[in-house]
Order: sequence, then C-alpha cells, then structure tokens
Amino acid sequence: MHRMKIQFCFIFVTFLTSFTSIPLTHATSRYYRTLAGGHRQGGSTKFNEQPLAEIAIYEAVLALHEDASVKASPNVLGLKGEDTEWVTIQVDHPEPSPDDWVAVFSPAQFNGSTCSYEDYTRIQPPYICSSPIKFMNVSYENPDYVNTGKSLLRLQIINQRSDFSFALFSGGYSKPELKAVSNTITFANPKAPLYPRLALGKSWDEMTVTWSSGYNIDEAVPFVEWAMKGHHQAQSRSPAGTLTFTQNDMCGGAARGVGWRDPGFIHTAFLKNLWPNMVYMYRMGHMLQNGEYVWSKTYSFKASPYPGQDSLQRVIIFGDMGKGERDGSNAYSNKHPGAINTTDTLIKDLENYDIVLHIGDMSYANGYISQWDQFLAQMEPISSKVPYMVASGNHERDWPNSGSFYDVDDSGGECGVPAETLFYVPAENRAKFWYSMDYGMFHFCVADTEHDWRIGTEQYAFIEKCLASANRHKQPWLIFVAHRVLGYSSNEWYGLEGSFEEPMGREHLQHLWQKYKVDIAFFGHVHNYERVCPIYQNQCVNNEKSHYSGTVNGTIHIVAGGGGSHLSDFSELDTVWSIYKDHDFGFVKLTAFNQSSLLMEYKKSSDGEVYDSFTITREYKDVLACVHDGCEPVTLAA
Ligand SMILES: *[C@@H]1O[C@H](CO)[C@@H](O)[C@H](O)[C@H]1NC(C)=O
Ligand SMILES: *[C@@H]1O[C@H](CO)[C@@H](O)[C@H](O)[C@H]1NC(C)=O
Ligand SMILES: *[C@@H]1O[C@H](CO)[C@@H](O)[C@H](O)[C@H]1NC(C)=O
Ligand SMILES: *[C@@H]1O[C@H](CO)[C@@H](O)[C@H](O)[C@H]1NC(C)=O
Ligand SMILES: *[C@@H]1O[C@H](CO)[C@@H](O)[C@H](O)[C@H]1NC(C)=O
Ligand SMILES: [Fe+2]
Repeated sequence: MHRMKIQFCFIFVTFLTSFTSIPLTHATSRYYRTLAGGHRQGGSTKFNEQPLAEIAIYEAVLALHEDASVKASPNVLGLKGEDTEWVTIQVDHPEPSPDDWVAVFSPAQFNGSTCSYEDYTRIQPPYICSSPIKFMNVSYENPDYVNTGKSLLRLQIINQRSDFSFALFSGGYSKPELKAVSNTITFANPKAPLYPRLALGKSWDEMTVTWSSGYNIDEAVPFVEWAMKGHHQAQSRSPAGTLTFTQNDMCGGAARGVGWRDPGFIHTAFLKNLWPNMVYMYRMGHMLQNGEYVWSKTYSFKASPYPGQDSLQRVIIFGDMGKGERDGSNAYSNKHPGAINTTDTLIKDLENYDIVLHIGDMSYANGYISQWDQFLAQMEPISSKVPYMVASGNHERDWPNSGSFYDVDDSGGECGVPAETLFYVPAENRAKFWYSMDYGMFHFCVADTEHDWRIGTEQYAFIEKCLASANRHKQPWLIFVAHRVLGYSSNEWYGLEGSFEEPMGREHLQHLWQKYKVDIAFFGHVHNYERVCPIYQNQCVNNEKSHYSGTVNGTIHIVAGGGGSHLSDFSELDTVWSIYKDHDFGFVKLTAFNQSSLLMEYKKSSDGEVYDSFTITREYKDVLACVHDGCEPVTLAA
C-alpha cells in the first residue's frame, strides 16, 4: 500500500472507484476550516485574507445533471500573443439556484490529477484535490438566472502555463455538487515567457529581469536580448538562470494541499555595465532545441543613476496590496478592495517615478499558488518598466515551526518559498530577506521583520552595517524599510497591546536609527497611512509639521500599508507623536530634488491626489552635527 503513495495517484483513483466497499472517510472539513477561520493577531481577530480558502473542495460530490451544461469560448486564447483574455462562459442549468457558482480549473483535467495518497482519506468522487484558480457566483451578472437557468459570465483569464476548464457547482462553497464541466480552452502558447519584473542587482549598474515560463532548461535556453534605446546594432544577450519549486518545498497548509499549483520555471537574467540614466529596450527569449526562438513582447527601462548623482529621483513606497479581480470574480468576499485602484493609479503615473518598493504582503496568495501568477500579471505594467523591489511580510513567510520569527500560519504554508523564488532581491541569501540598495542620492536598508532583528542577531549586524555604509555627503537620504511596524503606529491592535508597535521593535533598533541619523523609517502591515513626528525614545524632537530643516535629530516614521488589502482601524487613544492619519488606500512618493531637498507625499489610490506632505531641506553639515546619541567621538587633543 505504502509504496503506491506518491506515484500515479490517478491509478489509485481508478483502484478506489472499482472497490467501492473500501470505506472512504467522509471528508472532514477540519483542514480547510482551520485555514478559513479568522485567526488572532495581537489580540484582534483578523479576516481570512484568501477568498479561495472559503471553498470546501474536498467536500465536492459528483452530481452531474444531464441537461446542465457549461460552454467556454473562445477555444484558443492569445492568438496575437496576448497574455490576458476575456472569455465567455454560457451556463445552462434546468434547476438553477442562488447557490450555483462556476469554478475555473487549470489544469483543465482537475479530477484526480493532483491527488496524493493522504487525500484519499477524506475525498470522494469526483476526487478533486486542487482548488479552482478563481470562481464566480452564477447570479453575479445575471440575477434573473435563478428563474431562467441561463447566464452568461465574462471572466478574465491569464496565461498560467496550462489549459482551463469551467465547472458548474450547486450547493454553495461549503457543500459543492458538481453539475457540469465545460470544454477545455487553452492559450496558443501556454509556455510563453511572461510577467517580467525588474529589480536592481547587487551593483548600481546592474538590472535584473525575472520572468516565468513553461520552458525548463532541457527544452530551451532562456536569455534576455537588450540594447540601449536607439542603438539597436549594439544589441547583446544575457543568459538567465532558472529556478522552480515543488509541492514538497511547501511547509504545509493549503500550499502543500489544495492550493498547490505548478509555478513553471522562473528565470533571472543579469544585465550588467549599464550606463547611468540611459533607456534600454529588452525582451525575453527562449532558444528551442531546433534553433527556433520564442520571444516575449519588447519592454524598456531606465538604468539607475550613479550612486550620489545629483538629479531628480522619485520613489514609490507601499505595502499590503493583494490582488484585485477586474471581472468581479471571487467578489463575494473581496479581501483586497484597494488593490486595483492602487495599481491603476500607479500605471497612469508611470512616467513620474523611477523605482517602486513594495514593503511586504504582496499577493496574499496564502498558500494558493495560482494567485501569484495573477498578482504578477496585475503588476506587470509597472514591474516591467521600473525596478520593483520587494520586502518580505508575514503573508510571504510565516508558518509554525519553520524558522519564522512569528510562529503563525499567515503564509498558508508557503514559508517564503514562492516570494523568494518569484522575485529577485539583491540579498546575500533570499531566504534571509534583508538587503541594502543604492539609488542615486538614496540609500535604503530593507529589513525582514519575519526574522529576528534583535541586538546580537545576524540581521541586527546587517542593519548596522547597511546604515553605516551610506556616505551622507553623496547619499544624504537614508531610508529604513520593514514590513511590520518596528517604530510607531496608532493602529488599534497595537494600541490594545499598549506598545504602538511590534514588541521589541524600536527597543532594539532606535539606537541605530538615531546613531546613523536615519531620515525616514517606512513600515506596512497596518493597512492605513500614518505619519509621525521626528521622534526618538517616544519623544518628538521637533515641533515642526511640514518643513523640516537643519540638524537631523530623530527619525520620521511612516506607515504606508494601505496598498489595497482591507483597511485597519486606528486606536481611539490619542497618540501625541502622530501628525497625520488616513483610514484609506494610498501610497507614498519620495522625491529627491537634489542633495539638499526632499519631498514626501502621501497620495490616495482612488484619485492620485496628495493628502499629506512634508519637505526636508538641509545641508551636509546638518547631518554631521552632533545630537543626543548621534555624536561621533571627539578627542580633547588639538
Ligand atoms: C450569489 O449571489 C446571490 C445574490 O447576491 C446570493 O443570494 C447567493 O448566496 C450567492 N451565491 C453564492 C454561492 O455565494
Ligand atoms: C475525470 O474527468 C474526465 C474528463 O473531464 C472524465 O473523462 C473522467 O471520467 C473523470 N474521472 C473521474 C475519476 O471522475
Ligand atoms: C534633539 O532632540 C533632543 C530631545 O528632544 C533635544 O534635547 C535636543 O536639543 C535636540 N538637539 C538638536 C540639535 O536639535
Ligand atoms: C534643490 O531643489 C530645490 C527644490 O527644487 C530648489 O529649491 C533648490 O534651489 C535646490 N538646491 C540646490 C542646491 O540645487
Ligand atoms: C477606487 O477609485 C474610485 C474612483 O476614484 C472610487 O470611486 C472608489 O471608491 C475606489 N475604491 C476604493 C475601494 O477605494
Ligand atoms: Fe502584514
């Protein structure tokens, strides 16, 4: 018995079907209920953040209705190279109910195709062991469906390296009864190279391009072809490395069970020796064994400024975005209501910023791996054009007994693997998600709050080294970034804890921020916007609110976690250090005009307008000047 465990579960299905006397334990719902249930976070109950977790797919039973049908069209998508298409789903059901819903499965052959031995202790025909990749209420666009039994749905499908089928279920999401399955549809080239994301390399003159495809290295050679704009004849090719991850790499939960989906192959090419500020054109390619090429679309980016270069430099910062659905699917419990607005507002403004920092909690896939491709597709207009630098959040990394600093299940079992593979970051080790980054007059230190940062740890040593390595004459703007709030936030649950931060955050780090005169510390995790005075040890060190100048004394703390996921409430307690609070979706833009002038703006996602701002104006001597806990030693000798 045991030896059949992993191989060919499909044979096992047949085996079980033909011996119906073998008792199949009736699906216990404990597994997904655990995932779906709200869980506690610092004293308050958090919403479940993955709509797919509401579906009790193991409970699905076979109840095919011979007169029910689902038809999907067109049959072939992406004939002109598109990676996103709208499909029409025609539902006919003689016994319609408000509880009817359509599931999108990919691969199309969803029954038994990904079952493992353990699954058979709980599932029943039709043996569905993987979650749909999205779903929609049949009445959503046509309330009349419950009378007519007919509905036309419009769904947006992206190329995810496999074919698709659409299944009609009755019984709602908790007792799904399979009524009918559609024809299979597919993209013309399911393996196409897609969803490029740019990231800075370890050196300022290097840009990395990471993308996803269905081509393993034994089938095709991946590379990026690129040239300075207007210098097509000087085109070059850079080879790409290839990575992937498997179900066994997941730590548990949905990621190792119903949420698992093959991520394909993830390629990264390193474009080196870039000329500062020049625009480059690029496209991804795969050279097949027969010598033919498969190409992506052509994209462009602007190379980074030389570190210290005095020129206009603009940075976008936000956290906690999530994924939106333009077709309204998954809508009955849309957990990330601001994601589309933030994305669209940033796309419209693409010409007016140079680099993006997404400071953790990216897709909220939470173990449903299909959601990562959908998130990458959502961000592609941005991530293919400007470096998209990411930090790790609880929804990327946390899982009990997996080495995450917080022993909670927020990653749905991913334990960091998808995020660390799908995105390149210039870290020594992407599983230790901390790194430094130079961008012109900015020096960024990106921390990883899902690993210990306290005094004495490897990460603490990194943070100190990173902060110390900014030459403030060349890089006056020193920025600290982390996912969870290690500084100050008036968020409700932090208020209940009484600390207004993660325990052991500023207690361990504020000395470093002060010593190295960090200008601004940005945090996410709390889904709102808040700006704090320049502060040190709970005391505002400056009464000014909008035009800071002179000596750098204290660090300004900003929470920018309103990228799109459901909003967080503020505490009713009045926090003296708080200058501006906004319970809405938004993001931050930093503009360095030159070595002595910086502008911070907070914009709402809904209209892109500025709702809060301040400037910092100062000279080099103002950074050097001695302040409490921020003085260089001086000898009495002359
Ligand atoms: C679909 O929407 C209708 C109308 O809003 C609602 O009554 C029904 O419960 C929904 N069905 C499911 C399966 O969520
Ligand atoms: C799985 O689905 C295929 C086609 O959709 C069907 O031919 C086959 O009988 C199904 N197998 C089981 C075990 O339900
Ligand atoms: C810095 O802030 C501290 C604490 O408020 C204050 O005592 C000190 O005078 C300030 N130093 C300067 C140079 O502004
Ligand atoms: C820096 O930029 C600001 C804002 O544009 C401008 O007012 C100021 O004159 C500039 N300073 C220098 C030294 O160029
Ligand atoms: C998205 O933006 C539109 C247009 O400004 C606005 O009406 C809507 O309320 C925004 N949605 C959310 C969830 O903020
Ligand atoms: Fe978070």
